[in-house]
Amino acid sequence: MNETIVRHTAAAPEATGHALLAGRHVMVVGGTSGIGLAVARHVAHEGAEVTLVGRDAERLRRAADEIGGARQCIGDLHDSASFTALFDALPDIDHLVITAGTASLKTLRESTPDDLRRAVEERLVGPLSIVRAALDRLRPTGSIVLTSGLLAERPIRTGAILAGTVAAIEAIVRSLALELAPIRVNAVSPGLVDTPLLDSFFGDTKTEALATAAAALPTGRIGRPDDIAQAVGLLLAGGFITGEVLHVDGGGRLV
Ligand SMILES: NC(=O)c1ccc[n+]([C@@H]2O[C@H](COP(=O)([O-])OP(=O)(O)OC[C@H]3O[C@@H](n4cnc5c(N)ncnc54)[C@H](OP(=O)(O)O)[C@@H]3O)[C@@H](O)[C@H]2O)c1
Repeated sequence: MNETIVRHTAAAPEATGHALLAGRHVMVVGGTSGIGLAVARHVAHEGAEVTLVGRDAERLRRAADEIGGARQCIGDLHDSASFTALFDALPDIDHLVITAGTASLKTLRESTPDDLRRAVEERLVGPLSIVRAALDRLRPTGSIVLTSGLLAERPIRTGAILAGTVAAIEAIVRSLALELAPIRVNAVSPGLVDTPLLDSFFGDTKTEALATAAAALPTGRIGRPDDIAQAVGLLLAGGFITGEVLHVDGGGRLV
């Protein structure tokens, strides 16, 4: 997938909030849905200039409209080459946020070698290829936020592969925080968050499954995309935070 669409829609909403994000260029890979869309909305509201990256032009356009305007670029985690030319057409970037991903859960017994390769490609090769492609265009005062997940610490029977890849992200941000300094590198680790990802995951049992999960959490509710977006906003604006994994899971690691 080599096509790159760079397009502005409407102007971003008037800056209202955090001076550290106002006027900054924030790229959100996975910004068409769920957590990424909430991050894009949050930073746009803070006055940032937003670039959205996703696989589908129509979904990108809808997301850009929803947040009041954003650049839109096509890119696929399974096609690292799609990111090589992406940055040529863009202004320098202050913050790179990568939330893109799916959640394929299978036992090891069910997984073919191709499934394993695909998981590593989506969760590690893809995001790291984007970071690598962005390196010459990231401002030294900027930061990177990658996405881990509760599975890294709270295992489930079908989650070994996904758990391994998200745990790797947590180890990677600590090393990259040294390698890429002064650019700051952090990860956010969401617990269960009500997004379209969970629709496909739970199907008809979603309402019941989420109610059960919520009742078990110290917060008494599962996450909303905005909960994670606020945490990402903190990582972006917090100039003294690097090599950190911020867990936003309603206490999910504790129960
Ligand atoms: N929701 C949760 O409970 C939860 C918990 C822990 C971790 N997470 C992680 O948080 C991240 C965001 O999840 P979400 O719940 O917000 O999911 P979501 O609503 O399904 O959104 C997923 C986003 O990822 C993009 N994406 C998926 N595959 C891609 C690919 N191959 N290349 C480029 N973009 C791709 C999608 O864009 P297009 O489809 O438009 O291309 C979409 O913007 C994921 O990495 C997920 O594993 C979620």
